[in-house]
Amino acid sequence: MKENINGFSKLDKQEKINWIAKNFFSDADEAVKMIKRYWNADEALQKLHDEFIENTVTNFYLPFGIAPNFLINKEWYTLPMVIEESSVVAAAAKSAKFWSVRGGFKTTVIGTEKIGQVHFLFKGEKQKLVQFINQIKPLFFSETAVVTQNMRKRGGGIREVELRDKTDVLSDYYQLHVTFDTKDSMGANFINSCLEQIADILKKQAVKHSSFSDEENQIDVVMSILSNYVPNCLVRAEVSCRVEELKSKDIEEPQLFAEKFVRAVKIAEIEPFRAVTHNKGIMNGVDAVVVATGNDFRAVEAGVHAFAAQSGVYSSLSHAIIEDGIFKFWVDLPLALGTVGGLTSLHPMVKMALQILKNPSAEQLMQIIAAAGLAQNFAAVKSLTTTGIQKGHMKMHLMNILNQFKATDEEKVAVAAHFEKEIVSHSAVVELLESLRK
Ligand code: MEV
Repeated sequence: MKENINGFSKLDKQEKINWIAKNFFSDADEAVKMIKRYWNADEALQKLHDEFIENTVTNFYLPFGIAPNFLINKEWYTLPMVIEESSVVAAAAKSAKFWSVRGGFKTTVIGTEKIGQVHFLFKGEKQKLVQFINQIKPLFFSETAVVTQNMRKRGGGIREVELRDKTDVLSDYYQLHVTFDTKDSMGANFINSCLEQIADILKKQAVKHSSFSDEENQIDVVMSILSNYVPNCLVRAEVSCRVEELKSKDIEEPQLFAEKFVRAVKIAEIEPFRAVTHNKGIMNGVDAVVVATGNDFRAVEAGVHAFAAQSGVYSSLSHAIIEDGIFKFWVDLPLALGTVGGLTSLHPMVKMALQILKNPSAEQLMQIIAAAGLAQNFAAVKSLTTTGIQKGHMKMHLMNILNQFKATDEEKVAVAAHFEKEIVSHSAVVELLESLRK
């Protein structure tokens, strides 16, 4: 077995597959077959997927599910969700239906500001730097005009360039903190291109400027990059109803339920161990739609959790109150999303997902995804404070256990019927399967 290799990227696809198969599997032919089983029969489509990243050898499927009946600001939406966790789509759909007859989700975009920074060092006198930046500031706009032209036509562009003094936390460290409006695109490439140009302008102007040319007064650019922390690219989703309207099949005592629910959310607000899991439940809904729409879930995750920790203590993203007999539950989420650019026009399933969502603008998508997060959080906290999470979770997981044991269709029907009224556990399912097979 050879565990490392030089020049892997130079091999062709078949050679890469052969290397993997030969080095990591005792039955190399079987491994090659498995890898190829996931290839798309449509060669052009496979080529498209191959070219998304480097060293592609095959595809990795995730289920593309549908959660219907989301009433958001009085409009119906059907949500495409890409996720592997069995209970997520069912929970979203259930929550959506529950709230659709109680006024639906109300969502508001609070802001759409994106951020990028040029990080640099300067040892000289601060006042001189402030004056210099003020003097050259118009150039940051005029000399990036070619790069920003299309974005400006769409109503976006660079909003502001601000000098920030960070020398109190790191010697000689300053930033150009730049804010952007990127309209319907997530804007990562646009922002990074602008920032690199701004850094160039800064360097060139400093060289030209007599008082920045000596060693002591040099401007030393460290890096230029967007920030995935976007606290001002913010959306709120909320649901509310009179407490007694919460009464339903699973909620027999609405007042008691509302109080327990609010208390559970309060615990997530004050206890980081719970907050992380509580927010993970929100992200189950958020990520599934983020992935389906071809957005960058790592960027969203990083930004959301930074936002959850903005007070210095990691806390709940959602909040709940009972006020004047009204139960109100809401979430604030920083979401930098795009509905144009990136994968949106390239990946056929992303295009399809966007069409199912009625081709939303980025702002509309922020609102839809915030509703998905809130729906998921409602379903989780409702289960946790009533039946417990395992009942529903294991019911959805049943099929995974059955597939793991290669159950036939008949066995699946028999086992599912048995567990209609019984609690699902891994061992109980195996036991029943074994007894059916005797
Ligand atoms: C599981 O994926 C998500 C939950 O743990 C969320 C929560 O505890 O609120 C159920």
